[in-house]
Amino acid sequence: MPTIAIVGPGAIGGILAAWLAQDPSNDVTVCARTRFDRLEVETPEGRIEASPRVLTDPADATPVDWVLIATKAYDAESSARWLPGLRRANTPVVVLQNGVEHVERFAPYVARESIVPAVIDCPAERTAPGRMRQRGPSWIVVPDSELGGAFVPLFARTNFDVSTGDFTTRAWGKLCVNAPGAISAILLKPTGIIALEPIGELTRGMVRECLAVGRAEGATLDDDVVERVVDGARRAPADSINSLLADRLAGRQMEIDARNGAVVRFGRKHGIPTPLNEMAVALLIAAQDAREY
Ligand SMILES: NC(=O)c1ccc[n+]([C@@H]2O[C@H](COP(=O)([O-])OP(=O)(O)OC[C@H]3O[C@@H](n4cnc5c(N)ncnc54)[C@H](OP(=O)(O)O)[C@@H]3O)[C@@H](O)[C@H]2O)c1
Repeated sequence: MPTIAIVGPGAIGGILAAWLAQDPSNDVTVCARTRFDRLEVETPEGRIEASPRVLTDPADATPVDWVLIATKAYDAESSARWLPGLRRANTPVVVLQNGVEHVERFAPYVARESIVPAVIDCPAERTAPGRMRQRGPSWIVVPDSELGGAFVPLFARTNFDVSTGDFTTRAWGKLCVNAPGAISAILLKPTGIIALEPIGELTRGMVRECLAVGRAEGATLDDDVVERVVDGARRAPADSINSLLADRLAGRQMEIDARNGAVVRFGRKHGIPTPLNEMAVALLIAAQDAREY
């Protein structure tokens, strides 16, 4: 029976834990910051419930076969406090976060060969501790490696499409979708703002920067990704709220550095100018600054 610990039972971690616990051959533990009693998740297939073991103190952790990290990217350091208790020497750590620096984020705490970076697409939100909504089809891509191949079968009894593939391409492809999400978060307006042509143009510009940097990092992405991002935003319900905007509206820290910050950082590494993403980073940092002037 695989023993699996999920660190960070928010929208993503809670849904993953609830689905993995549907398989009686998985033994699921949840490592939480805020205690809750049980998991209740509204999914496209109906409501699922689970009562995994819930820990709130890293000192209570015992070794498992798999650690899944589903905290926000900026919580890597505090998430890592769970690792000494949860890991045997080679226990893999699967990082399910946005951005492209999954391995770099956890390399200070875990040998690189034990880190499995995962791109996850799962439209989701948490309505209360232990209560989540999975709003549509969801997928995970992990590298085509021995650990990646061993990870896939854990999800046999879930509604996630989990596969191995080209992590670099999938992660940068997702960042191309996420980078212009900064526009909504800056404007405090939902996705429907894309109907304005100047916003469509700004979106194209931000995606083009991300595409150029991603290609320099080795991602295989076609030029048509630019129009696909714009079309996708135009087809989405006009009142859709991306996670950056949702975090800003809720007064939570935003994943600025893992998203637009990464475009800027890798752009500098390759000598590729990224002025639009750089401006987005500056405006979001200023928007998040709570000081009175
Ligand atoms: N939501 C989506 O639709 C979506 C889709 C794809 C990818 N992602 C990515 O998935 C990652 C997780 O996002 P999310 O939306 O699930 O975030 P979230 O709802 O904010 O959940 C993060 C969870 O981590 C917990 N946490 C923080 N530090 C912790 C620690 N040291 N130990 C244990 N738990 C800790 C938080 O605890 P509290 O309960 O105390 O807040 C919260 O439950 C992000 O990188 C995000 O970009 C999200």
